Amino acid sequence: MTTPTIPLCVPSLGDDERRLLGECLDSTFVSSVGPFVTRFESEFAARVGSQNAVACASGTAAIHLALRAIGVGRGDLVLCQDFTFIASVTPAVHLGAEVGFIDSEPRSWNLDPALTAQALDDCVRTGRRPKALIAVHILGQPADLGPIVDACARHGVALIEDAAEALGAGWTTAYPHPACAGRQVGTVGAVGCFSFNGNKVITTGGGGMAVTADAKLAETMKHLSTQAKLPGLGFVHDQVGYNYRLPNLNAALGLAQLGRLDGFLARKHAIAQRYRAVATRLGWTWQPQLAGSVSSDWLASCLVGADSGRTRDRILAHLTAHGIQARPLWLPLARQPCLAGSRRWGGAVGDRLAAEGLSLPCSTGISEVELERVCAALESHETT
Ligand SMILES: Cc1ncc(COP(=O)(O)O)c(C=O)c1O
Repeated sequence: MTTPTIPLCVPSLGDDERRLLGECLDSTFVSSVGPFVTRFESEFAARVGSQNAVACASGTAAIHLALRAIGVGRGDLVLCQDFTFIASVTPAVHLGAEVGFIDSEPRSWNLDPALTAQALDDCVRTGRRPKALIAVHILGQPADLGPIVDACARHGVALIEDAAEALGAGWTTAYPHPACAGRQVGTVGAVGCFSFNGNKVITTGGGGMAVTADAKLAETMKHLSTQAKLPGLGFVHDQVGYNYRLPNLNAALGLAQLGRLDGFLARKHAIAQRYRAVATRLGWTWQPQLAGSVSSDWLASCLVGADSGRTRDRILAHLTAHGIQARPLWLPLARQPCLAGSRRWGGAVGDRLAAEGLSLPCSTGISEVELERVCAALESHETT
């Protein structure tokens, strides 16, 4: 009998999901109309501590709606974290913006606050004030956002938080900036964007949410997400919008998952703690946790050695041979062929993360036996 592969990160679905999906099917409201969407929006907003939430078809759609609602258009400049998944920035490119990338810092693997302030200063000095800055809470770890909030305010730049991977993460009251202290990620910038893709902290199958304290922005995003159709029976559209609605069926799944969020987070923290002990013993660097912040520990990741990826790739091959799914971290955006030629501030930290980064299986449903299997394979990698 072959040992089953341990997947990287798959959802946990059970009776709550079955019950709400059943209710949704029975109601026949499986598409874009139905009560689960508004319930999911209001319960999500309450959970993260935001005034408004707009459900949409994906995290990418949430970022697209956010940028469009704050007025990003052709020829505008949008700056973004360099070390992130490409969806953080593709909506800005679709809107015709010029994009530039800022490196991460080793303390959080997120935007370097000093470099970010320098990048904004550089742009403003040369008469090219960015319309927006996209800060990411990568792998679930909150960014050191306080000084970034200040730099954005100084220059009148809208701050968008890409919290796709970070539902449940935030800053404690010990975090030394009042804009963030005691808040959850996504609720500090003009708009915060979340993803409910199948591998995220909670899933709707596919889906996303944009949260904002600004009722007008929320209204604009909702309107744009529904083809910008004016109310009434006629088909009159005052803008060119999108079909970015989240179907009722997906919202039902999201509501059930949201109810289980605390349990998912506790399991994610326990998994990270287990791996962190092994990584430390092997001399690897676990993703650091910034003082005054709490990560969602979405995707258990570490750096495994400074030799241009050879060690990492050897470990990946070793894990694959043991039926364990693992992944490298992302190539920074400025290095992506489709974004070549974009301006970049710094880059050494992101390059290192890409060369040495390794993500390990961390589904909330992973068993203790499976966790032990992964840990044993990690410990034995040097013997093969
Ligand atoms: C950092 C980041 N931003 C944006 C997205 C886009 O989310 P989605 O896949 O729901 O469009 C993802 C996830 O896929 C992500 O990891």
